[in-house]
Amino acid sequence: MAPFSASFLLYFLSISFSIPSILTASVVEDLENLKPPSDFNLTITSNCLGNPNLRYCKITPFNLHEIFKSTIVASHLCNISNNPNCVESFPKIDLHCKPKIAPLYLSFTFFWKYCPLTILSIDLSNNSLQGNIPSEIFHCSQIQELDLSNNELSGDVPVQNISLLTNLTFFNLSYNHFLECKISDKKFFKRFNSTSFIHSGLLPNHKKFRIKAVLLLVGFPIFVVVMVVWFGWLCFWRPDFLPKFLQRKHKFTPSILKAATNRFSNRNLVAKSSKSSIYKGILRDGNEVRIEIYWETISRESRKRFVEQCKILVQLYHKNIAPVLGWCDNRRFRAIVTKWLDGENIETWLSRSAPPWKQRVKISIGIVAGMCYLHEEWPEVGYDLKTRNIQLSEEGEPLISRFKFDHHNSSAKKIYKFGVFILEMVSNRRPLEDFERGETSFVEWIKMHYPGNLENVIDKKMRRTEHIVREATDAIGLGLMCTDLSSGNQPTWDQLSNMVSNV
Ligand SMILES: *[C@@H]1O[C@H](CO)[C@@H](O)[C@H](O)[C@H]1NC(C)=O
Ligand SMILES: *[C@@H]1O[C@H](CO)[C@@H](O)[C@H](O)[C@H]1NC(C)=O
Ligand SMILES: *[C@@H]1O[C@H](CO)[C@@H](O)[C@H](O)[C@H]1NC(C)=O
Ligand SMILES: *[C@@H]1O[C@H](CO)[C@@H](O)[C@H](O)[C@H]1NC(C)=O
Ligand SMILES: *[C@@H]1O[C@H](CO)[C@@H](O)[C@H](O)[C@H]1NC(C)=O
Ligand SMILES: *[C@@H]1O[C@H](CO)[C@@H](O)[C@H](O)[C@H]1NC(C)=O
Ligand SMILES: *[C@@H]1O[C@H](CO)[C@@H](O)[C@H](O)[C@H]1NC(C)=O
Repeated sequence: MAPFSASFLLYFLSISFSIPSILTASVVEDLENLKPPSDFNLTITSNCLGNPNLRYCKITPFNLHEIFKSTIVASHLCNISNNPNCVESFPKIDLHCKPKIAPLYLSFTFFWKYCPLTILSIDLSNNSLQGNIPSEIFHCSQIQELDLSNNELSGDVPVQNISLLTNLTFFNLSYNHFLECKISDKKFFKRFNSTSFIHSGLLPNHKKFRIKAVLLLVGFPIFVVVMVVWFGWLCFWRPDFLPKFLQRKHKFTPSILKAATNRFSNRNLVAKSSKSSIYKGILRDGNEVRIEIYWETISRESRKRFVEQCKILVQLYHKNIAPVLGWCDNRRFRAIVTKWLDGENIETWLSRSAPPWKQRVKISIGIVAGMCYLHEEWPEVGYDLKTRNIQLSEEGEPLISRFKFDHHNSSAKKIYKFGVFILEMVSNRRPLEDFERGETSFVEWIKMHYPGNLENVIDKKMRRTEHIVREATDAIGLGLMCTDLSSGNQPTWDQLSNMVSNV
């Protein structure tokens, strides 16, 4: 313990002597009842003359009443703190485990303002004190020990004030709720032993830190794995959920088609044959599509060829060819995805409205234009020219919308099919339904009437003028030429194009 100035003790405590019967009542009662003696001014004046370092001597002019009250509080505190001799010394304030009176004494600001210089130790531990560190205690700038442990103090630690307590060697803030890491001044922590800050909230909680580290160490790889798996899943199954720039254009996965068609529900089924089904689907971006699915299993070679052909198909662009959006190539099935077209097909258009000749010619010209384009761009492509499979666009243009992926797509066969198509346009008869042996007997039937007896062949529902009959006769001639496979009479592509234009 630091040596005390005996004279100081005398000066300070001499005031107490002048208050008889002190400590007979509570500190609050004493503060109310006791009055400074008449010679109080004289007493402290002479005290200050003897020892000018007394704290109250520096606060002038004297507030006699405040100074007197502080002596009353000092007397009580000295006794409560079990100082061995309250007459001669007053070295410590011990309010450990006194939650009822500790806040009361802290509230006597006038006492702390004149904090006796003899006090070297303040213990306020285990009092459930709340809020910020009571700043009153910093007036006692000479203290060597300060214990604030086991309270509920919170907020910031006033590092500045504490750094002014230059003689402080024992300091305890353990078991409080201060704000972590608010202290940038690392010197502050170096000055005191780390046991001063156990569970104070100030030091990083190592257990928590370890848990965080473990979580991070374990969690991050798991996160990465999950992300990779998730990303892989998206890439392979649902690339339509990926950002646009990561999607492979034109490539549809079975899962995308399944989602677009309500799991290939019957309600989305538009047409079905032994080898393929056509569905109407809605993609994630809201676009309506026509999905033609080929169920038959084919060799790996054929699948490869299918993909190669699709890659060309998606590049085709012509007003008479339905835009192909993409394909799906899978072990179980293959599919072609084209834009959904709302218009009717030529077959229903013919049978429903028996359209005028001029319109039929326009449709035929469109078909030839589409065919010639395909022939130039990609002669191997096969397509289906059945009137049922040719859609009318909103602008009234015919659209070749069904493609074939087999070997037998020779020019001759295509021109033959066009011949059947144009004969059908003139006659408005269904070769497949109205004739026993399909197209062959349909063509034979037309031949029977050509050229003398065409009245029976030309669509009776159509308005016919002499001019129209002549043109229709030319068209039938062209159709028969195209269907004549035997003698090499078929027109070439250029001839075909010219002849249709002339009609
Ligand atoms: C105390 O006494 C001094 C002179 O000794 C005087 O100047 C001062 O005014 C007195 N103060 C009060 C509050 O009476
Ligand atoms: C201090 O207070 C105790 C009671 O807590 C009392 O017994 C004792 O006499 C007091 N000491 C003085 C010096 O008044
Ligand atoms: C704090 O006080 C409580 C009772 O108020 C007591 O049970 C506990 O032991 C005390 N702790 C310390 C460290 O003094
Ligand atoms: C504590 O420090 C602040 C500035 O950091 C100062 O304004 C205040 O007066 C100090 N309190 C005491 C009791 O010294
Ligand atoms: C610290 O102690 C020394 C020696 O006891 C003393 O001179 C000095 O004034 C004290 N510091 C404060 C801030 O009280
Ligand atoms: C902290 O102080 C305690 C005793 O007061 C001592 O046992 C311990 O070694 C000190 N720790 C450090 C890091 O100085
Ligand atoms: C501060 O108080 C806590 C709890 O009472 C104790 O465990 C710790 O050792 C104390 N620190 C010092 C430096 O005495």
